[in-house]
Amino acid sequence: MEIRKIKPQHLDLLYNISLEQFGTESWTKEQFESSIVDDNYICAGLIEDDKLLCYVVAIQSLDDINILSIATKEEHKNKGYATRMITWYKNLALQVDKTLSLEVKSKNEKAKNLYQKLGFQKVHERKNYYKDGDTAIVMFCKL
Ligand SMILES: CC(C)(COP(=O)(O)OP(=O)(O)OC[C@H]1O[C@@H](n2cnc3c(N)ncnc32)[C@H](O)[C@@H]1OP(=O)(O)O)[C@@H](O)C(=O)NCCC(=O)NCCS
Repeated sequence: MEIRKIKPQHLDLLYNISLEQFGTESWTKEQFESSIVDDNYICAGLIEDDKLLCYVVAIQSLDDINILSIATKEEHKNKGYATRMITWYKNLALQVDKTLSLEVKSKNEKAKNLYQKLGFQKVHERKNYYKDGDTAIVMFCKL
């Protein structure tokens, strides 16, 4: 099991995890496809025997790496996989001297707890940010 860059051959696996976890709020296959081949994005996953267990899609700017989408396949949740992925992004951000940020729905307690455990702190809120009216919590990681 190792963390690797996601390649076009993993597109279906990536999309299926997103669909399973986000349902109608999932990115489209086309959005994932273009992020995989775009150097502004960093798409990585925990892969075992060419099976994708957990993925992270992030976009990088001059000074920040922003996690846009993260999910773990249902049957592999609570095994520390998202923790491993985020730790990998933390190390990357440190190496390239960028900050690490993300947005999370205020109602997503599980994800918020996980991020807090990993050193993310709330910097501000964006009210009514999501389609369902939920607030976005903007968090930056203490590296
Ligand atoms: C949020 C999400 C990505 C977390 O993925 P995960 O792989 O289950 O995360 P982890 O296993 O690293 O951490 C989850 C829990 O397992 C615990 N854990 C960590 N390592 C562990 C291990 N080796 N063995 C057992 N449990 C472990 C963590 O402490 C954490 O516990 P907590 O819920 O009490 O905080 C996953 O639940 C998911 O895909 N959710 C739906 C999509 C989503 O909401 N994404 C985030 C949008 S911002």
